[in-house]
Amino acid sequence: MTTATYTLSSFEKPSVVHEEIYEPHDRYIVPDPTRRSSSTQRALLLQAAREQYTLVHDHAIPDPARGEVLVKIVAIGLNPVDWKGPAFNFGIPRLPWINGRDLAGVVVSPTDESSRVQRGDLVLVPSTDYRDIRKAAFQEYAIATAYNAARIPSSQCVYASASLGVAFVASVLALGVSFGIDFSKNFTGQGPDLVRTIRGLNRDNIPADILDETFSCTLPSADRAQPGDWLAIWGASTTTGYITLQLAKLAGLHVICVADVAAHGRKLHGAGADILIDRRDPERAVEIIRGVTGGRLRYAIDFVGRETATLLERTLDGTNGDAKAHLLGLTGLPKERQPGIAYHTVPIKLFHLSPEVGESMVVWLESLLRDGTLRLPEIVRSPGGLGSVNTSLEMLKDGTASGKRVVVDLQ
Ligand SMILES: NC(=O)c1ccc[n+]([C@@H]2O[C@H](COP(=O)([O-])OP(=O)(O)OC[C@H]3O[C@@H](n4cnc5c(N)ncnc54)[C@H](OP(=O)(O)O)[C@@H]3O)[C@@H](O)[C@H]2O)c1
Repeated sequence: MTTATYTLSSFEKPSVVHEEIYEPHDRYIVPDPTRRSSSTQRALLLQAAREQYTLVHDHAIPDPARGEVLVKIVAIGLNPVDWKGPAFNFGIPRLPWINGRDLAGVVVSPTDESSRVQRGDLVLVPSTDYRDIRKAAFQEYAIATAYNAARIPSSQCVYASASLGVAFVASVLALGVSFGIDFSKNFTGQGPDLVRTIRGLNRDNIPADILDETFSCTLPSADRAQPGDWLAIWGASTTTGYITLQLAKLAGLHVICVADVAAHGRKLHGAGADILIDRRDPERAVEIIRGVTGGRLRYAIDFVGRETATLLERTLDGTNGDAKAHLLGLTGLPKERQPGIAYHTVPIKLFHLSPEVGESMVVWLESLLRDGTLRLPEIVRSPGGLGSVNTSLEMLKDGTASGKRVVVDLQ
């Protein structure tokens, strides 16, 4: 096996060639999908926990099975888990392993005529199925389950689209499953009613670790968030927070955003935030949320960690008898549980385990992209290909990317 290990010192920081919010045209020229001369490819391997990724040149190009497509990757969107997983030794099924959760590229394998996704299509793929190494983003070719691939309209920017997938999936499942929001009503670009979809699923096909979270929204006692309800988001400048804000606004909620207002206030206000609260004085932020909602807040999401989730918990009103308050933590929940509050984690794997859920989500995403309804994350584009991933991840780790997604260009 030919390998080349890249250490931090062997690379300059990737130069930022382009920063964009959203561009109404596509600057990427789609390559001929039928041209593929080799059965091997370059890939980034994680050889051991707490190590950097290693570039190999002869990793086998995976073969798609029925219902799957092979995607030639054009751009990789980096996520915090790409450095946190190796650093804290989680989310690594075996070693060596390939990571990478967000990609955009061209479908290069033959497709059925009836398939929504066709050979030659530009697609974005949230690779939530991280236990399947064939689907990882840190390689030149990846497998995607067809019902998890969203076509990128030619009028959109492929690089910004590469940064969107996992954040979109987490946002939709948080709001649509954990908080039960019906996205099929109340706004343009009709979305899924995931509660109805879940009612039609066979419980035996859902893994035990997400069974309760998945089906709690279908109980008669479920408190589904409605238009006019307030939602507080702590960490609204995260990519996932920014998408959650936009989807919650589409669903008619009033949204309070906690973030660095000087740095991100303009963007969050532009995306519809009703109230902006600066994150630098957390105790004051709790007071403001309680004041604005009259102490009656029932829905809150934290994107930062246990400490801020515990602060958010104090803003919730759990004294309404059967109508509980709901707290979702994407990176941690409070240690202690309080009465009257339901605690949620995102059932992320539902996206790839359930064709009904996955397909309804990407079909909606396609329409949001086509209509330009969704503001895409701002990105920093790194031109260095797979060899620049290690240094690009440093930008996430040390916070220099602040509020922007880093997208690695594989062209
Ligand atoms: N469980 C899952 O399936 C899943 C899925 C998606 C994401 N996640 C997790 O959710 C979190 C957010 O992910 P992401 O990809 O959306 O993040 P991201 O875009 O990388 O987040 C970067 C942002 O976080 C903000 N931030 C950092 N510390 C903060 C604090 N103490 N208070 C408020 N904001 C703070 C930074 O704001 P400043 O510019 O002000 O520093 C920056 O704008 C990560 O921990 C990620 O691992 C989990």
